[in-house]
Amino acid sequence: MISSRLISISKYTKGYNLLLDVGSDHGLLPIYAINNNYVKDAIASDINFKPLIKAKENFKKYNLDIKTIIYDGIPKTNADCIVIAGMGSELIIQILEKTLDNAKNLKRLILCPNTDYEMLRTYINHKFNIVFEEVIYDKNHYYEIIVLEKGDSNYNEYELYFGPVLLKTRSKEFINKLEKDLKTLKNIVNGITDLIKKENVEKEIKMIEEILCQDTL
Ligand SMILES: C[S@@+](CC[C@H](N)C(=O)[O-])C[C@H]1O[C@@H](n2cnc3c(N)ncnc32)[C@H](O)[C@@H]1O
Repeated sequence: MISSRLISISKYTKGYNLLLDVGSDHGLLPIYAINNNYVKDAIASDINFKPLIKAKENFKKYNLDIKTIIYDGIPKTNADCIVIAGMGSELIIQILEKTLDNAKNLKRLILCPNTDYEMLRTYINHKFNIVFEEVIYDKNHYYEIIVLEKGDSNYNEYELYFGPVLLKTRSKEFINKLEKDLKTLKNIVNGITDLIKKENVEKEIKMIEEILCQDTL
């Protein structure tokens, strides 16, 4: 069954022609996007063939003609919308660095890594604008969905750490995530022996406290 995380991600594909789901695994996201008429057509790609065998079975079950491609990163494509989800930010950055040029028609890039959101926002800064962001809670884990369109953004330290849209909208899930992060950081800070690491964590704690104590105007 499709997760609430993938359902939330799929919303941002609405209105595009061709969706490419990179690292599609069992192909649940393209199935959902097509069945809900969010996109006209979709391609599922993955570096491994085994998940794509399962994806093909799933497409057959739903009687959908979704192409599958085995590829490391983004294959050559006409897709105007690309999703990369369920991987670490470091891997997503590697994929973008090596293969983003294969998507000449790209209009929207939807990313949902498992971790290191600041690292990912720092990488896309000056290359893409963040047009939507959302914090979601699924199976005991908070995720951030980052929706990008080409642009010459220039985000500051706070925007890169927290997310420019998340800072503005301050959803309940965003505040809950910050409260959880703050608790985790406060629990570990005294046990850190490396001075630079300790200073960094102390800075994160200060920044989160600063954001949590502000109300929206
Ligand atoms: C944890 S699954 C995520 C599946 C789905 N995207 C999601 O968010 O639930 C990660 C998938 O990415 C694939 N993957 C890992 N590295 C990849 C790469 N460099 N290029 C394409 N797919 C990759 C894996 O084979 C796996 O099927």
